Amino acid sequence: MGLQIRPSGSALGAEIIGADLTRALDDATFAQIRAAFYQHEVIYIRGQALSDEDQIRFTARFGALRQLRLASQSHVAHAEIFVVSNIRKDGKPIGSYDAGSLWHTDGAYLANPHAISALRALEVPAQDGRTLGDTQFASVSAAYDALPQAMKHRLEGLQAVQSFEQHLAKTGGGGVKKDIYSTVKAAAEVMHPLVRVHPVNGRKCLYVTEGYTARIVGLPEDESRDLIAELAAHCIKPAFTYRHNWQQHDLVMWDDCSTQHKATFDYPASLPRLMHRTTVVGGTLH
Ligand code: SIN
Repeated sequence: MGLQIRPSGSALGAEIIGADLTRALDDATFAQIRAAFYQHEVIYIRGQALSDEDQIRFTARFGALRQLRLASQSHVAHAEIFVVSNIRKDGKPIGSYDAGSLWHTDGAYLANPHAISALRALEVPAQDGRTLGDTQFASVSAAYDALPQAMKHRLEGLQAVQSFEQHLAKTGGGGVKKDIYSTVKAAAEVMHPLVRVHPVNGRKCLYVTEGYTARIVGLPEDESRDLIAELAAHCIKPAFTYRHNWQQHDLVMWDDCSTQHKATFDYPASLPRLMHRTTVVGGTLH
């Protein structure tokens, strides 16, 4: 069977059917998946019980993977794997238990934020016959396109401060956040364009999230705060979103330039959720 690409029916997202990720893909198949990824911004492959090595091999085809050796995740064999989980062993969390509690894009606090993230579901909480802990995605390229022309002009050339410290303050800095912060020695703040140009397909993307965007450079404080709130709310309108309902063995990949995402914490601590994430390192922003 050849490869099938089945769009989710929402503004972004497509299922890839017929690719066996337990083996190295041939170049033609990978090129189809890559093209689908940059078109649909989020792709998902279901029902394959992948190993960490499979996930690393497949996602590294998209670019060099970030290696992060966190003291709190020293039990993980591969530095490319970041654990997202509410599971505790010997009283200690085995992963980041509150990752994604705010809308954000991964690594926005870095000078070269992540290009792509991939999350693989090893355990998914389920209750009354349905799985919980969905991840919501928003297309910030679609959100940009839908802005009135006057707003597009207003945003031209503006830069915004993306702040890990704001994120820590808003989330309480639980889980592994402080560990990441001290490990990557992230600058307290970095400045990025408010509108990014996608490095692969040239689409314009709004780079503003409730999680990280602290202020817009050169604007008075109240105007900056109001504009961030207005744009962040615009990005997550239902017309621009896709909600992924996880099944065990799903692999979901998202574009960290053209999307933002948020986890849903609708499951009790007694139901385990275990995800392994790999991330593709990004380049300098345009
Ligand atoms: C993340 O924000 O990277 C994790 C999202 C999730 O666990 O659903």
